Amino acid sequence: MQLRDKTVWITGASSGIGKALAQACAAQGASLILSARRIDALEQVRQTLPNSQQHWVIPLDLALPELAAKTINDNLPALPPVDILINNAGISQRSRIADTQLDVYRQVMEVDYFGTVAVTQALLPMLIARKGMVVTIASVAGKVAGQGMSGYSAAKHAIVAFMDSLRAETATDGLQVLTVCPGFVQTDISRNSLTGDGSQFGELSSSIANGISAQDCATQIIRGIEHNKREIIIGKGLSRWAPLIKRLFPLWFMSLSAKMAGRD
Ligand SMILES: NC(=O)c1ccc[n+]([C@@H]2O[C@H](COP(=O)([O-])OP(=O)(O)OC[C@H]3O[C@@H](n4cnc5c(N)ncnc54)[C@H](OP(=O)(O)O)[C@@H]3O)[C@@H](O)[C@H]2O)c1
Repeated sequence: MQLRDKTVWITGASSGIGKALAQACAAQGASLILSARRIDALEQVRQTLPNSQQHWVIPLDLALPELAAKTINDNLPALPPVDILINNAGISQRSRIADTQLDVYRQVMEVDYFGTVAVTQALLPMLIARKGMVVTIASVAGKVAGQGMSGYSAAKHAIVAFMDSLRAETATDGLQVLTVCPGFVQTDISRNSLTGDGSQFGELSSSIANGISAQDCATQIIRGIEHNKREIIIGKGLSRWAPLIKRLFPLWFMSLSAKMAGRD
């Protein structure tokens, strides 16, 4: 699907991959609706875009899925029809299972799974009517699970499965469903991750620091949208190849992940 003259709703557009996607989509001539919790950061992103007056900022908190869906429905009459939804907002978690409070699992699931489901359902009738596209930034962690991020991995596996179901259910409606699974990307994801007690991890991990840039990731996602892909895996090194290794050599992969500590 080409982006020129399309309207694209991007969640998590205030930083990282979402911000890079906003810049890349606007450069292709799309009008954008930018969502996240931080209004100031969203406004700053909007001001940097070409034709900033043809983009909108709609704050959403995906940790409150019902309210997020209501906010979307309340705002739709004043917005142009949406062609593409990019579900990008998300939080990660860094803690071993024995050290993780149940509420941390709930918080991650609320944003990465229920919040994403609620936004998708709210926009689905319009997206189907326009034969549009749902793009979801899942993760390689939604394809393989290792140590130290059980909640994040479970939430991303759940959203990958949900989007597989959506693709199957809407195949005859002309809706396109693209799931993106990045490996390590240089963003604030590790700083914003929750630890086992719910506090912020607060550090840039070395695996994230050594990942691909957010701009590179966004460029590959745009290529996936333009080529009507259904699933793409993006990244370098082990994080790029882990899903294939797991599929071809499952026992080897299991012994490998038992030996490897979580992302540092
Ligand atoms: N970086 C990586 O290595 C990597 C790898 C695989 C997948 N991903 C996925 O890529 C997506 C973007 O992450 P990123 O790497 O760009 O990290 P990031 O810089 O931390 O960005 C996360 C975005 O999500 C928004 N967000 C977080 N909680 C939210 C909530 N409750 N409601 C609404 N928006 C919320 C944040 O905005 P506010 O704080 O303003 O709300 C921010 O815009 C995530 O889904 C992540 O899981 C990242």
